[in-house]
Order: sequence, then C-alpha cells, then structure tokens
Amino acid sequence: MNILVTGCKGQLGTELQKIAGVEHQWFFTDIDTLDICNKAAVEACFEANRIDVCINCAAYTAVDKAEDEPQLATLVNTFAPKVLAEACKKHNALLVHISTDYVFGGDATKPYKVDDPINPQSVYGGTKADGERVIQMSGCNYMIVRTAWLYSSVGKNFVKTMLMLGDTKDEINVVADQKGCPTWAHDLAVALMALLNKNGKNEVHETFHFTNEGQITWYDFATAIMEIGGKNCKVNPITTDQYPTKAKRPAYSVLDLSKIKAYAGIEISDWRESLVKCIEEISPGLLRSSQ
Ligand SMILES: NC(=O)c1ccc[n+]([C@@H]2O[C@H](COP(=O)([O-])OP(=O)(O)OC[C@H]3O[C@@H](n4cnc5c(N)ncnc54)[C@H](OP(=O)(O)O)[C@@H]3O)[C@@H](O)[C@H]2O)c1
Repeated sequence: MNILVTGCKGQLGTELQKIAGVEHQWFFTDIDTLDICNKAAVEACFEANRIDVCINCAAYTAVDKAEDEPQLATLVNTFAPKVLAEACKKHNALLVHISTDYVFGGDATKPYKVDDPINPQSVYGGTKADGERVIQMSGCNYMIVRTAWLYSSVGKNFVKTMLMLGDTKDEINVVADQKGCPTWAHDLAVALMALLNKNGKNEVHETFHFTNEGQITWYDFATAIMEIGGKNCKVNPITTDQYPTKAKRPAYSVLDLSKIKAYAGIEISDWRESLVKCIEEISPGLLRSSQ
C-alpha cells in the first residue's frame, strides 16, 4: 500500500518512521513538505502518489495556546481533516486520524467507551471533536483513534519536562486530582500498524481508543518519572485549583480500550512498563547503571 503520513516530525509521526517496514511504500511529510490546510497541495499529493492510506499525525496540539488562537487551531484540527477526508473519499483511500481524550467532558467515573457522548471543555478539545465530525460526515473510509497524555523521546512532553526539572529542582508541585492514562507514542504507532494490517483495504467507519493500560494522576506519573529516571526531586501533590491553566483539563479522562484490543487482536502494555522503555531511550544506559 502507498501510505501518506502527515505531521511526521511530531511525536507519533517520528515513531511511525522508526517502525515503517518495506512492505509498504511510505510518504512521510510535515508542514514544510505538505501543509494539510492546503487543499490543492493535498489533492496533488494524493494524485501523484496514488495514496491508499493517509495517517494524519499533524495537529495543532498547544492546548493552552489554542484558547488564544482558536482560528489557527480550527484550521489545522477541523478544516484540514475535512480536506484529507475529501481526498480519501475521492481516491478511495483510508484515513487514519488521531483524536484525543479532551473531546470528553471529564466528569465520568468509569473509563469512556468509544460511543459515549462527547462534550469538549476547551478550544483544543472542541476543534478535535469537530475534526472527528467532519470525517464521520465525509463518507470516506476512516479509523479515528483517540489517545491521551502522549509522550516520546522527541519533542516537548510531560516526561521530558519532568526529567529536566528533576535535574534542576529539589521539589516540584504536580496536580493529583486529574486522572487519565499516559501513552508512549511508540506503542500507539505499533497499534496503528496492527489496525491497518487487520483491516487491509476493507471498508471501515470506526472509532477506537488507545492509551497504555492503567489509571493514574499527573502526580503519580511525575513520581514514577523521577523514580525511574533516578532524579532526586520531591514531588508534592496539589489540586487543579492550585495550578490554574488557560484551558480546562478533564478531571477524569481514562479511555476504555476493549474495542481496539478485540478488533486488532492486540495486548497493550501497562503504562509503567512503557515509561521505563522510553526513559531508557531518552537516557541510554541510565537504568543499567542504577541497577
Ligand atoms: N500530545 C498529546 O499529549 C496528545 C494527546 C492526545 C491526542 N493527541 C493527538 O495525537 C496526534 C499526534 O500528536 P503529537 O503529540 O505527535 O503531535 P506533535 O508532536 O505536536 O506533532 C504534530 C506535527 O504536525 C505538524 N503540523 C502542524 N500543523 C501542520 C500542518 N498544517 N500541516 C502539516 N503538519 C502540521 C507539527 O509541526 P510544527 O511542530 O511545526 O507545528 C508537528 O510536526 C495529534 O492528532 C494530537 O491531537 C496528542
């Protein structure tokens, strides 16, 4: 298959580049080579490369900044997915689109199932929810995969920020009343390939959830990062009220993973197991030397 990956320099796109095998022809692009808001450029790319699958890793992901830049966030997270969906429909291609736990209201007490009603609480969440809707309404073949708390060894993310703070601070405060589950971008990339291989070229209109297994707070996550990373930095639990942010964060955004596990026939790693692997990748030799 000819597979187009957009936003390939981001966290997820980079992991897809690492695992891309020779059985497919890959076209890795980012904003410098294919701006997904440029309809003519997207159409030309599909036409020239006879695209069978488009994996859309491109997004506007600055959650707080989106509150001040709703138009730009809408352009990238809603308008561009529509452009990609229309190109997929025209070329009979499959669109694999990544969405977020922030489409949910965050007031649940048990993991969100894929069909639970959405109720975004932030500009970012709203633009991603609208992105899902335009794809669902386009009539193209699609798999929408919602994920959460994504991290990897590249780019900016919570794990890298905590490791950096662990080197420079004696103690930090981290919110302990928001619960979710982290996702190592590598595991998500592998799951996307499993979905693709399982589905092949069959017609599909499905939404999935993928995170690592487990339920933790940001405080639990930070504590584990300091521990695994060997940082001598105390983590103090605080409440959301004590750490105000521009965009409202969901208090509870654990995603139910049963659908993707059954559909793709995969097992999913526990969050801590994957965190250890990512920290080993960020700081090679660190874990061996501390054993
Ligand atoms: N990060 C998270 O915690 C998280 C949580 C839940 C869901 N998700 C979703 O997961 C997906 C992947 O996230 P990620 O963390 O890998 O994102 P990321 O690291 O921010 O990467 C996104 C990439 O898309 C590029 N991009 C932005 N606008 C573009 C455009 N118009 N055309 C082409 N490329 C463009 C970005 O370039 P620039 O860097 O130059 O802007 C960047 O290279 C996104 O759909 C995101 O909404 C992420």
